Parts: sequence; C-alpha cells; structure tokens
Amino acid sequence: MVTIKVDLNSRYGLNPAHSEVVEACKIVESCDALDMGCSNGRNAVYLGQLGFNVTAIDTNPGAVDMLQSISTQEHMDNIKAQVYDINNASLGEDYGFITCTVTLMFIDPARVDEVIADMQERTLAGGYNLIVCAMNTEENPCPVPFPFTLKTGQLSDTYEGWELIKYNEDVGTMHNGAKLQFATLLARKPS
Ligand SMILES: C[S@@+](CC[C@H](N)C(=O)[O-])C[C@H]1O[C@@H](n2cnc3c(N)ncnc32)[C@H](O)[C@@H]1O
Repeated sequence: MVTIKVDLNSRYGLNPAHSEVVEACKIVESCDALDMGCSNGRNAVYLGQLGFNVTAIDTNPGAVDMLQSISTQEHMDNIKAQVYDINNASLGEDYGFITCTVTLMFIDPARVDEVIADMQERTLAGGYNLIVCAMNTEENPCPVPFPFTLKTGQLSDTYEGWELIKYNEDVGTMHNGAKLQFATLLARKPS
C-alpha cells in the first residue's frame, strides 16, 4: 500500500480528497484513472500521489490550469488536466477507474444516460466506476436547484450486471440544516 508522505492538497489549498474517493482507493489498485469534473484537483492530486495515471477533466479552464500547474510544479507527469465538456459523452480512452463525485448533477439531464453509458463503455473489464450524485425524492426533495438529480434506485438500475461494491442513498444534513440525499455507487465491471 502506498503511503502519502506530503499533503499536497494542503500545500496547494485544496480540500482533502472526497471521502468516497479515499474509501474506493482501499479497493481499487493504481491504474489509468479518469476524474470527471475534477475542479482544481483535490481528487486528482490524491490519486496521482497514490500512483494512479490520472486524466482529469472539467469545463472550467481556470480550474484545469490550476491543477495542471500543480502537476507541473510537483513534476507529477502522471496527472494530465484537460478542458472537456462531459455532456459530449465521447471519452476517447479506456480506464481502470472512473470517478465522478458531485458532478453529475451539473450535467444536462438529457445527456446523463449517454454520459453514464459512455463511462461504462470506456471502463476496462474488471475496472471501477465511482459516482456520488444528489437525489430528489418525494421523501427528501432536493433543496438545491441542480439541473439534474437522481430518483430512488435509478443509479443502481443503470449499473445492472455490474458488481455493486458499495451502493447507498443516504440522507445528509447541510450546514443550514436542510436535508440532502445522495446516491453513492462504487461498481465493478464484469471481467
Ligand atoms: C461540485 S464540483 C465537484 C468537483 C470534484 N469532483 C470534487 O469532488 O471535489 C463540480 C465540478 O463539475 C464541473 N462541471 C460542471 N459541468 C461540467 C461539464 N459539463 N463538463 C465538465 N465538468 C463540469 C464544474 O466545473 C465543477 O468543477
């Protein structure tokens, strides 16, 4: 197991990696990874330090530039940051691990099925997808007007035939006390 000796996230003022990325990395071994909606790279930098070969994509050129400059300064040539619109659903390469944390809800709702189908197709046999996305249900209406939210069971249904390593639709509490439900999925593609 690789131990991270220098906290690059703190050095560059990034938040710690998403807790589900940290959890997933206890199972997923270093491989070619795609970070979808990377922002300025809290997850990409973490994955890069663990030895993943990371492609990090986002529509925000400022965020992509910041991540690219971190990888250049740290001589981490295993992190490549690129401007890319996820709505295109046309990933050009295959990956062992695709992570998409708190990003899917910003995607054009009409494109989400295509986006997930493309992620699944571009995952190598035996590889993993991690998705964390807000939900909007009768019991827990989403308090934030995201363009897209998931319905109960929608994400697990989309991964039928994959091994669900982790799946939950837990309800969390925001800083202002409002309830926000998220679907969290770590799934393994059949080998
Ligand atoms: C809430 S942030 C999540 C960042 C990161 N995944 C994390 O866990 O910290 C959502 C990110 O998705 C990006 N995003 C939104 N729509 C996108 C799109 N169509 N294509 C690529 N990135 C997009 C935003 O620019 C933003 O950086």
